[in-house]
Amino acid sequence: MKKFYEMVRDERLDFIKNAVGLSEEEKASLGAPLAFESADRMVENAVGIMSVPLGIATNFVINGVERLVPMAIEEPSVIAAASKAAKIARAKGGFTAKADRSLMIGQVQVVSVKNVAGARRKVLAKKKEILAIANAKSKSVAAIGLGAREVRDASRNRMGRMLVVELTIDAKDAMGANAVNTMCEAIAPKIAEITGGEVVLKILSNYATKRMVRCKAVFDKGELGGSKIVKRILYAYALAHSDVYRAVTHNKGVMNGIDAVALATGQDFRAIEAGAHAYAARDGTYRSLTRWWRTKEGDLAGEIELPLAVGIVGGVANVNPTAKVALKIMSVKSAQELAMAMAAAGLAQNLAAIRALSAEGIQAGHMRLHARKFGK
Ligand code: MEV
Repeated sequence: MKKFYEMVRDERLDFIKNAVGLSEEEKASLGAPLAFESADRMVENAVGIMSVPLGIATNFVINGVERLVPMAIEEPSVIAAASKAAKIARAKGGFTAKADRSLMIGQVQVVSVKNVAGARRKVLAKKKEILAIANAKSKSVAAIGLGAREVRDASRNRMGRMLVVELTIDAKDAMGANAVNTMCEAIAPKIAEITGGEVVLKILSNYATKRMVRCKAVFDKGELGGSKIVKRILYAYALAHSDVYRAVTHNKGVMNGIDAVALATGQDFRAIEAGAHAYAARDGTYRSLTRWWRTKEGDLAGEIELPLAVGIVGGVANVNPTAKVALKIMSVKSAQELAMAMAAAGLAQNLAAIRALSAEGIQAGHMRLHARKFGK
């Protein structure tokens, strides 16, 4: 049987159709840009559609399940590299991933509070009442927790002490931004009443640390090019862990994978990026989002951990038929399954990049693909 990359477009589409059962209409929507009328409803001052290539990364096995991984990206080599890394991982069982519940944090900022500690206690004492106000706003997602903490302004403006009330909301299979914001706005008057302060911001936090995803894989040393390459990859990781200039580029490679799936499936990639980079700097120094080590057998093991707020209901997939089909191609049944696949794409992408950099260099791979595409 032909490999996916050896097929022409129709053969690729038939392959996907057989694998996940796409209708003719769904197949057609993969090649059709978003209708201008939809774009015009989505943003202001619309004049056109900006297109990005959509491809499929192959060979991914995640928690024992085969998944085709759609990636929307303009950069050559990324999809081939992810597929290659996934193929190497597959020989050792593929990717093993875990994702937390879809817990989002919403923040309500209260200023001009005379007694912040007292106000905090009063807010916590009314937890049930406040959660009920939030929950009256949604049938599909649930506010399940309430916290409050003092924040001291350390900016040059010295605006004083403030109270931040935080809602924890289970967004289930949605990304949850709209629901969280609506709930924060709904509880704001009550918070102002209880604290006697002035509410300023009412908004979700894109630092979704209660919504973590973790993914691991082992890559055979022989497939990577031998023990020497494994060692050189560990040197590459050592630099990414210890030096911010390398860490940013290393994580850019990770995000090549994560963002491409995010874009293909209609996720808010800016939110994902902001949260990922904050997490990379969680101990005060910006570091690699992945960890790499050598196993007892001399193979290379890798792990990625990051907050990932993604959804399979609501959001762009509602209005963009291509994103909807991309989700179908992935066959994910929950936001967690999507997050795990995205983490696997990030880990695979990172492995492919640092392997190439530790061996022949990134340009050689780029040029090989370029040559193949243009028949040289
Ligand atoms: C290019 O898009 C990504 C890389 O620079 C990532 C890396 O250096 O690890 C190759």
